Amino acid sequence: MPTGFTGRDIISIKELNKKEILLVLNQAEKLKRAPEPELLKGCVMGSCFFEPSTRTRLSFETAMQRLGGSVIGFADPGVSSATKGETLYDSIRIIGQYADVITMRHPLDGAARRAAEATEKPIINGGDGANQHPTQTLLDLFTIRECQKRLTNLSIAMVGDLKYGRTVHSLAQALIHFQPTFYFVAPDFLQMPDHLLEQLREAGIKYSLKKTIEEVVNKVDILYLTRIQKERFSDISEYEKAKNLYVLDVPLLAKAKPNLRVLHPLPRVNELSPAVDSTPYAYYFEQAANGLYVRQALLGLVLGKL
Ligand code: CP
Repeated sequence: MPTGFTGRDIISIKELNKKEILLVLNQAEKLKRAPEPELLKGCVMGSCFFEPSTRTRLSFETAMQRLGGSVIGFADPGVSSATKGETLYDSIRIIGQYADVITMRHPLDGAARRAAEATEKPIINGGDGANQHPTQTLLDLFTIRECQKRLTNLSIAMVGDLKYGRTVHSLAQALIHFQPTFYFVAPDFLQMPDHLLEQLREAGIKYSLKKTIEEVVNKVDILYLTRIQKERFSDISEYEKAKNLYVLDVPLLAKAKPNLRVLHPLPRVNELSPAVDSTPYAYYFEQAANGLYVRQALLGLVLGKL
């Protein structure tokens, strides 16, 4: 039966409905249990990273290779013809003639959408500016379901850079399908953008704005930490004010519910103490590992093989 994914761009999590999200998660679960080393044999993925990445790029490339496909591309635009002034449109139009699917990351909001106009091949957005990171959201949902055994009616705190954090923007939008209660922990100048809070209100989702982790740690099932992203601040004094505000260490978890799990899209800087790694609450390394299966599922679906 057609899934509706074949040939499709994955640009924004808002374009996937609940049924489609669950289909991706279920396919990822199957691939985690039973690898498919021949599924994408003969297929080529273009991997175009105009901005640094460790997890997203390497898990996509591993996903493709472990499904039997191959990878072309660049991890640094400095080695591409972007340095000679080639437009994103032209680059993607050309790469689309070599590859069957293109994964990309770009520092500008809307770049993935622009790229999708340049080629008929599916574009998968691996992060565009402060806008969207839909594949991170799918792996976050997969991980939440894995560690909590459900997605519905969870209490979820998002902490840190909620203004510029594309992972929290995409995740909050996706969780609208699953009746969460949100706690957004950030200083006023890094709080969730108004347009996202408006979406939550329209969907009848409960949320409250908080200033400290202490206020929420005993209430939540998921504590989703984020890095204060220095590279997104135009006013560096705001970054200096924010950079040490939230640091999760073991004593802060003393009042946590036993089922609480700490997630973080990573990389971390100082907001998540390595001492937390050896507590039963830490689940961020499993989260990063799950990116492989979720990206395998997406590649298989958009290439019409699942
Ligand atoms: N979570 C995430 O996007 O990590 P990378 O920046 O390393 O890809």
